[in-house]
Amino acid sequence: MLNIVLFGPPGAGKGTQSEKLIAEYQLMHLSTGDILRGEIAAGTALGLEAKKLMDAGSLVPDEVVIGMISSKLDQNKNADGFIFDGFPRTVKQAEALDKLLAQKNTSITMMLALEVNDEELTKRLLFRGKFSGRADDQNEEIIRNRIKEYNNKTAPLKSYYSAQSKFQSVNGVGTVDEIFSNLRGKIATVK
Ligand code: AP5
Ligand code: MG
Repeated sequence: MLNIVLFGPPGAGKGTQSEKLIAEYQLMHLSTGDILRGEIAAGTALGLEAKKLMDAGSLVPDEVVIGMISSKLDQNKNADGFIFDGFPRTVKQAEALDKLLAQKNTSITMMLALEVNDEELTKRLLFRGKFSGRADDQNEEIIRNRIKEYNNKTAPLKSYYSAQSKFQSVNGVGTVDEIFSNLRGKIATVK
């Protein structure tokens, strides 16, 4: 199985590159952000609880996203592999993911990080906010909070996966195709 954690700050291009990677490698895409927005759209209790935090650019509780990923893994037992997009986002989530995969006799193959500077992230998200309808794209203060949450809680995962010799990074600034080609080059080293 090829199990990739696609990593990077808000607006780094995780969703954009995931679409290309799933087409190339026939992987299942698991984006906790997309799943949570689906819950909000469906008006579930979970969605209602998550919405306030998401709109403010804060992380939702670990137990909520770990539970969501656990059931998605169970629902997709025959997948050739997964792209985890926006998950894990804390050390606790990474530890839980390792356990869930070990129960299925598999593991994370690699973490691929997209490196993008804060100025470019802010520019991309504010631009998308003009038509995305996402409350968390609407102003610089919320975007700053998303980046702060990333720096405080999520960036430490680079060390977590480095310690397992699974961390690789690419420049996330450039054309979508250039970045995709660099990601393919990194995957070729493990496949
Ligand atoms: P989530 O949905 O994961 O959002 P995010 O990580 O903050 O960032 P985005 O999804 O907006 O960015 P992306 O990296 O996917 O980039 P994209 O391809 O869209 O999470 C949202 C919220 O849900 C969190 O704040 C939290 O509340 C909650 N949540 C989710 N997962 C959680 C978890 N595990 N634990 C706790 N809470 C969780 O691209 C962005 C824009 O840039 C697009 O407009 C795109 O067209 C453009 N773009 C892409 N590539 C390029 C390029 N190369 N050049 C120029 N523009 C580009
Ligand atoms: Mg995304």
